[in-house]
Amino acid sequence: MAGFYTNRCHPPTGTTRAEETYQGVGAIETIMRGHGLLLRTIIIYDLIGERLAKGEKTDPALVLKTTEVIHTYLQNFHENMEERYIFKPMEDANSNAASIQELKIQHGTAYELTRRITDLAKAGKLNSELQGYLGSFGKMYRYHSAWEDTVIFPAFDGLMSKKDLADLGGVLQQEEKKILGTSGFASFVKDIAAVERQLGIYDPSKWTAKL
Ligand SMILES: [Fe+2]
Ligand SMILES: [Fe+2]
Repeated sequence: MAGFYTNRCHPPTGTTRAEETYQGVGAIETIMRGHGLLLRTIIIYDLIGERLAKGEKTDPALVLKTTEVIHTYLQNFHENMEERYIFKPMEDANSNAASIQELKIQHGTAYELTRRITDLAKAGKLNSELQGYLGSFGKMYRYHSAWEDTVIFPAFDGLMSKKDLADLGGVLQQEEKKILGTSGFASFVKDIAAVERQLGIYDPSKWTAKL
């Protein structure tokens, strides 16, 4: 077993910790930071859903900016990469096949939810139907991404050699450029930060529990 999870604890003889960290981190880190971005979109959806439930006014553009990030970064890039470079080799190795099948179904369900959310927001229909779809997306994808982080990626890490993981890090970088062009991860984080600012939730200080 070699890679992101295990190498950090047990660097093999003859390899420095810096080399170990660099070689193993690329691919899995690229995918896992996508989950951080996903969580921020879910938090936006939560807040907009709460506002809709209270009958408060919300600008549909905030929903549309968020669905754009989900569609472009998370679906076109992140999930595409998961299915091609993580799920496929795991299926070929008969590793976690049943849950991978379910995760792929969830990718498709999220795609349809995103389409419906986008259509309703474009039509200015900020109603209970939209509220339901926002809630369904968050409920499904909180567990989905946590499952990938704690079950699927550690199992994938165990299947791959250190070199395979290092090579995959480079492949994902190239794919990111090919699929997203000059818009890298940071530009999508900026887009989400802009929505958070408009909602008044940008900055960790907004989230510190009051005791
Ligand atoms: Fe996924
Ligand atoms: Fe994912």
